[in-house]
Amino acid sequence: MKALVLAGGRGTRLRPLTHTSAKQLVPVANKPVLFYGLEAIRDAGITQVGVIVGDTGPEIRQAVGDGSAFGLDVTYIPQEAPLGLAHCVLIAREFLADEPFVMYLGDNFLVDGIRDLVDAFREAEHDAQILLTKVEEPQFYGVAELGPDGEILRLEEKPEHPRSDLAIVGVYTFSPAIHEAVRAIRPSARGELEITDAITWLIANGGRVHSHLVSGYWRDTGRLQDMLECNRIVLEAIEPDIRGIVDGPCEITGRVVIAPGASVENSVIRGPVVIGAHARINGSYIGPYTSIGEGCVVEGAEVEYSIVLGDSTIRGVSGLTYSLIGRNVEVVRAEGVPNANQLMVGDHSRIQVMS
Ligand code: DAU
Repeated sequence: MKALVLAGGRGTRLRPLTHTSAKQLVPVANKPVLFYGLEAIRDAGITQVGVIVGDTGPEIRQAVGDGSAFGLDVTYIPQEAPLGLAHCVLIAREFLADEPFVMYLGDNFLVDGIRDLVDAFREAEHDAQILLTKVEEPQFYGVAELGPDGEILRLEEKPEHPRSDLAIVGVYTFSPAIHEAVRAIRPSARGELEITDAITWLIANGGRVHSHLVSGYWRDTGRLQDMLECNRIVLEAIEPDIRGIVDGPCEITGRVVIAPGASVENSVIRGPVVIGAHARINGSYIGPYTSIGEGCVVEGAEVEYSIVLGDSTIRGVSGLTYSLIGRNVEVVRAEGVPNANQLMVGDHSRIQVMS
């Protein structure tokens, strides 16, 4: 069995971060989302992985390399434009050959991994297996309508008026029968070759398509609140590990990871928190569910429930919460301008300040 990982596409919902970098590389607990998926694939006993890449291909290649760091053998498959999930299967035909495969959307996050569902697929004689889970806002996902015996009646991509609250999770397993289906379908109204259409074609043409309801934790990390939520879930289970330097009067409680080369001075750290390599925390409070990236500087500041990417500086600012802060960003106190906020902010940013 092989795996096809989708790491192309555009990250419009996580702009401005994804103007400059791949959305699959946004970190959860200081590790790119994509890496959790690659590890889950390896843990399911699959080693041959095709990775679909688009405009951000160079960055993905640099992060993942030949896959050996994960125990995988990675082949890159460039996609000229994000023409749809089924288009990814179409262009991966040669790589996939006639083997069954798992298709994994590179921005999806499953806490329980995929071993059970890969094992279930290996045992069964299905042509496709999809995972479904109940969500509160089904209009943002592919949605399945099931019949009384659990059979799939209809699959719709981001319907305006969803017929159920069952979203399609971004991990699918297919037999080689899917290749005929992706060749048979036409682009949807939004101009993409939809995998939901290919699966619908399979059902209509006698394919055996199985759906499986999952109750474990799953998120598509395309939106801020989902990133912060994934970060919270991973941090809750993190093993405390303090390798950096802790100096001066500090209070460190709960699950806290301080990476080698990082330093914490005169600060209060209330876990779960991770602090990346070579970060410097001084005279600050870092509250629960926060990931501070490598090389960051946090001085005289208060941060909680947030993700801060590498090499950013937060100085003299309190009450920073529920925030996602990119790389090389400066969030500093405005000096000499009382009761004023001074901003230099990129396109598509969102700033919420105290009034
Ligand atoms: O996360 C689950 C949802 O994923 C499903 O419920 C939907 O049915 C499915 O269409 C998909 O919706 P998204 O809107 O989240 O898809 P997105 O465009 O974000 O693409 C998912 C991943 O696949 C992402 O890592 C980018 C990559 N991709 C996407 C397209 C369209 C590619 O590599 N190439 C593409 O052409």
